[in-house]
Amino acid sequence: MFYEDIPNGKNYFDEDGHLIQAHGGQIQWMSYFDINSKSVVSKWIWVGEDKTSGAHGGIRAYSSEDLRNWKSEGIIMRNIDKREDFDNDIYFKKLYFDKSSEELDHIYECINSTTAIIERPKLIYNKKNEQYVLWFHADGPTRESKSSYAAASAGVAVSKSPFGPYKFVDRYRLNICPDDQKDYYPQSKGMARDMNLFVDDDDSAYIIYSSEENLTLYISKLNDDYTYLSETVDKAVYGRDYIRLFPGAQREAPAMFKRNGKYYLITSGCTGWAPNQARYYITDNIMGNWKNMGDPCIGDTSHTTFDSQSTCVFNASNNKRIERYIYLGDRWNSNKLSESSYLFLDIEFMEDDSLKIFYQERGLVDGN
Ligand code: DGJ
Repeated sequence: MFYEDIPNGKNYFDEDGHLIQAHGGQIQWMSYFDINSKSVVSKWIWVGEDKTSGAHGGIRAYSSEDLRNWKSEGIIMRNIDKREDFDNDIYFKKLYFDKSSEELDHIYECINSTTAIIERPKLIYNKKNEQYVLWFHADGPTRESKSSYAAASAGVAVSKSPFGPYKFVDRYRLNICPDDQKDYYPQSKGMARDMNLFVDDDDSAYIIYSSEENLTLYISKLNDDYTYLSETVDKAVYGRDYIRLFPGAQREAPAMFKRNGKYYLITSGCTGWAPNQARYYITDNIMGNWKNMGDPCIGDTSHTTFDSQSTCVFNASNNKRIERYIYLGDRWNSNKLSESSYLFLDIEFMEDDSLKIFYQERGLVDGN
């Protein structure tokens, strides 16, 4: 099957005829060293959740030259359902040969496919270490709580290739509400759920995530390696290392991007797998004031972001003359998560830098 454009909200297959499994994902243009051709190649890379077997899948990647036809690059970070397989499988043995048995216990707790939740993976390249860094919402029960979303952490894994295998580094609780501000969930500090990443023009990287039991979004700066925060939580300075956004507004699914010096953040409300009304914000300064711009969707009569939830916005212009930013949304199918589909919608920018998103039956229609 060859796609001229994208069947928004419908079954969408990879080059092998399998449903594309890259939910809660991210698309970007990347250059990387290709071991087959032994040269540097540039392609579109799509990473996301593989939901073939339901909620607890691994992370899969796809590559494409035209943004419409995708080749599966396989599972780039595997999870595993049995402890003995984790100990004996050569894939995990090679990755974690240097770990103590306590460390292996912890890694297994974070990546097992029975209880650990791995969602919304996002990928960035760290020039300094020449390594690909994958962050994701890492959740699941903990030793203290059996609740399925108890860990509420951000996980990180690294690899020398964009297509893995990624070595799990750890999962972390992140920054906390300063004492002089109202914490909307003081009983559990530093939570991190739906997340995204953003790398600025000066190579500073940020993680954007729902905290305080999803009541408040945070943006925290990452360190030079992109593998942890810019400062430990006890030393982090509010307004320099992190900022809380829209306290109590209950936003998730953050999709951040930059255009003409302005930063944009598209978000959803928090209604599980059910869609709700998008809201976006603009600022000139990441750690400054973000202006609420309301719902960007035009003609969305049911106020459900055209039955989707934001996952990323990417610049599809790829050096072509015409500017093109695409909103990528998930249309979740909660009865069968593996059949969740995608919306690729062009974003239109107004003269005052506000934006509009219209529904399109087909995504990425040329000249549209
Ligand atoms: C909404 C989040 O955006 C999704 O990533 C997922 O965690 C669902 N909630 C689970 O209900």
